[in-house]
Amino acid sequence: MSVSTDGRLLFGGDYNPEQWPEEVWAEDVALMKEAGVTTVTVGVFAWAKLEPRPGARDFGWLDRLMDLLHTHGIGVVLATPTASPPPWLGRLHPETLPRDEDGHIIWWGSRQQFSHSSSAYRRYAAAITEDLAIRYGHHPALRMWHINNEYCTSDHGDEAARAFRDWLRAKYRTLDALNEAWGTAFWSQHLDTWADVIPPRRAQYTRNPAQLLDFRRFTSDALMECYVAERDLVRRHSPAHVPVTSNFMPLWVGQDGWAWAEQEDVVSVDVYPDPRDPLGGQYNAMIADMTRGQARGPWMVMEQAAGPVNWREVNHPKPPGLNRLWSLQAVARGADAVHYFQWRQSRQGAEKFHSGMVGHAGAEGRAFAEVKRIGAELAKLAVAGTHEASGIAILHDWHAWWAGDQDGRPSKRVTYEGVVRAWHRALWEAHLPTDFAHPEHDLSPYKVVVVPQLYLLTDAAVDNLVAYVRGGGTLVCGFFTGIADADDRVRPGGMDARLRELFGIRTLHEWWPLDAHESVECGEFRGTLWSEELTATEDADVVAAYRGGDLDGLPAVLRRGRAWYLSTLPEPPALSSLLADVAAGAGVRPPLSGLPAGVEAVRRGGLLFLLHHGRGETVVPLPDGAAYEDVLSGAQYTGSVTLGRFGVAVLAREERGAGAA
Ligand code: GLA
Repeated sequence: MSVSTDGRLLFGGDYNPEQWPEEVWAEDVALMKEAGVTTVTVGVFAWAKLEPRPGARDFGWLDRLMDLLHTHGIGVVLATPTASPPPWLGRLHPETLPRDEDGHIIWWGSRQQFSHSSSAYRRYAAAITEDLAIRYGHHPALRMWHINNEYCTSDHGDEAARAFRDWLRAKYRTLDALNEAWGTAFWSQHLDTWADVIPPRRAQYTRNPAQLLDFRRFTSDALMECYVAERDLVRRHSPAHVPVTSNFMPLWVGQDGWAWAEQEDVVSVDVYPDPRDPLGGQYNAMIADMTRGQARGPWMVMEQAAGPVNWREVNHPKPPGLNRLWSLQAVARGADAVHYFQWRQSRQGAEKFHSGMVGHAGAEGRAFAEVKRIGAELAKLAVAGTHEASGIAILHDWHAWWAGDQDGRPSKRVTYEGVVRAWHRALWEAHLPTDFAHPEHDLSPYKVVVVPQLYLLTDAAVDNLVAYVRGGGTLVCGFFTGIADADDRVRPGGMDARLRELFGIRTLHEWWPLDAHESVECGEFRGTLWSEELTATEDADVVAAYRGGDLDGLPAVLRRGRAWYLSTLPEPPALSSLLADVAAGAGVRPPLSGLPAGVEAVRRGGLLFLLHHGRGETVVPLPDGAAYEDVLSGAQYTGSVTLGRFGVAVLAREERGAGAA
């Protein structure tokens, strides 16, 4: 399955024509052509427009729109509108409205007010989806199906409670097994009948972590059932080559992205780095790497912003060049499509101050000028469908995140997302491209595997890590890993015994988490966030030891053969150089040597992408004797390339007219 058959990248955005009089559509299409738009995502929130009252159908406007787009050669990513039920659904079926942990109803008036477990919601969603699929499944404009939008709702109400019980029954079979898994001997939580099982609701004090973990799992699965039901309907009524996707929020806690990705033909993500974040480029890279890892096939940026969003405390625009840089960065890291939210900025509604590809300033606006440039440049890059192997994988798992970030843990300052981001940043700053992988994946393609933090590891995952090192792989593992089993039960000894043996940890006595103002000296660097009182086995090397303080002389970084263990979070430059050294030792080096700080180099499809995240000018040395052409500008380079503020060069190697970059 692919998004394009000729290597051409898709370029476009969410298009909400229902917000505009039809006279505007002609101008929209003309501007889309001017900007090189290939595809638009239509109908994401159009349920009330398609079904203004229960059972009614109004497809006339969509017929006209699909035909218009097709006439102009613009493809459609057609969305099922089920993320935003019309008010009448809540009025007629109040049980479709989800409840929060306090039992409060989530009303209509915004969007996403649906309970994943409501049979009425699922019935109405299936009906509109099937009619949409029957009507447009063979329309020549159809390029892809887009199911719902950013599945993210949770429900703690009674219908969800029944579904949760069914899910638990299927998993545990007996109430005894459930009691055992949830550790209900603690605080008199023993469940006497299935009716005692409820979703997590407001309670007096810290709640049962195993219940919370299973509720996360259940919620992800319940949402996925909604997705799968709609996916199967659209597949039934359209040709087999039309892919189906549903867009993730980036690094979103609520969906098990690995399980979901297996159900999608194309994995898509919505990514909104903060233009003011000095590490926004790293964040964009990380989301691309993660989405690519999940997809293990085609993936796309379904949404990004051409300018400011409207949901931060302060919403900054993108300075000139940043939209182009981040768009090309996503392509460099494997995206087959770059789409935006949204095509034309709204004049009404909750997002009227959220930018569009065509902003309130219209075609005269700076945002549109940059969009046009990006569209023209993407048309020169026929890299869709190409994939580059990475030598390094970062292991990531939602179940570990769900279990590890709960209340009642050693330090609230340690967050899963923060730690993953710190490790990815270290690799990014060392110019080392990375994949993301699941701890139970086949890791043999990677020379180096890093584990920022996996508090919960299944037995299969632990075995996988041990086998990976035995098979010749190099493993670098961060603290608070391998602590709990799949039921969130702390492993004997406080950390999995096989992992302790792997890293050469004799005894893990105590964790010594650090306050915001604290750091610990570890020889040549300082550790932050966390430290540990542990002793090493005789065959382990203490690479760095704590100096001073209560842990004086104890190991901070341990190594046993190819297995490394970091019991603290080294400050960013130290983590970066440690990982660069370990990677070099395992034969993994940056795609280009001598890269200046802030310049990212990534290879894809025989091209070398150089992306400059800084605002000054920088010189990037090129390999001796090789000549390159920038396929975007046509400029020729030998020796070096000078990149200006947010500059990008996409180089094809010219030497003797052959070879890859
Ligand atoms: C999400 C949604 C869009 C829009 C944008 C705004 O990604 O999918 O509908 O609300 O956020 O940034």
